Amino acid sequence: MDLCGLRLRNPTMLASGVLDETAATMVEVARAGAGAVVTKSVGRSPREGHANPCVVELDVGLLNAMGLPNPGIEYFSEEVKAVKREGVTVIGSVIGGSEDELAEVAALMADAGADAVELNLSCPHAKGLGTEIGSTPENVERVCRASKERIKVPLFAKLTPNTSSISNLAKAAEMGGADAVVAINTLKGMAISPEARMPILANRFGGLSGPAIRPIGVRCVYEIHDAVEIPVIGVGGISTGRDALEYIMAGATAVQVGTAVWTRGPGVFKSICDDISRFMDEYGYSKVDDMVGAAHDTKP
Ligand code: DHB
Repeated sequence: MDLCGLRLRNPTMLASGVLDETAATMVEVARAGAGAVVTKSVGRSPREGHANPCVVELDVGLLNAMGLPNPGIEYFSEEVKAVKREGVTVIGSVIGGSEDELAEVAALMADAGADAVELNLSCPHAKGLGTEIGSTPENVERVCRASKERIKVPLFAKLTPNTSSISNLAKAAEMGGADAVVAINTLKGMAISPEARMPILANRFGGLSGPAIRPIGVRCVYEIHDAVEIPVIGVGGISTGRDALEYIMAGATAVQVGTAVWTRGPGVFKSICDDISRFMDEYGYSKVDDMVGAAHDTKP
């Protein structure tokens, strides 16, 4: 299939933040069946991240506040090059505290050989990064434009659901020159231990992912599909082919899987693709494209 000129053997990708800190794990996930991998979010300089505990597994999903730990783009460029040597399609996720910094890291990520760049405009809790710069349409448009000017590969904008109108953010990304939008990132959440009388995460707040956020992600993709012409990449709580099909029929051209890789392992990609193929056989679809946005044609 084709996504903004990228050739993918299937519509699934590894979402940013899981098994994507080294070339070796990204290659492993691609060999297990992912059509592409998105790297850990990387910035200009190394970042340590937040103190422990930084992840807590809840009954409904995963809450994390890693704090965007990363080794910086200079070091990470070598990992990107190593992934490319194995012939894997890799999308470089980048963070920055200003439009100039984001654009610079985007350019270095593209120079390293990334097939596309994904701007993480949506980490729900890191000071001065993520949602703090990605929560107004004006900022989203500005940072997309600045990054787009510096790269030749496709630009993806990963948007936050922690907003009253994600479709306005998507329109702004499109205006700023983004080639696709990715929806959704995690929802800002919190867990408290009554026994300890304190928040569980050292950072207090974190990003909620997993099955609990799927209906929110599907709704966001459905709204965005009505608002923009550029492709939408759906992410949030996908662990089966049926989950992926919800996103596809809401309007997603491709999907990303993160938390389910953590809970089920990299085999989840093959299982999702097999489910989708079986569904297509049963319902008479010959290509995934024919299902994109199909739920917009039929209203209850
Ligand atoms: C982190 C980053 C994210 O983009 C997210 O959605 C959740 C957590 C982090 O590194 O803390």
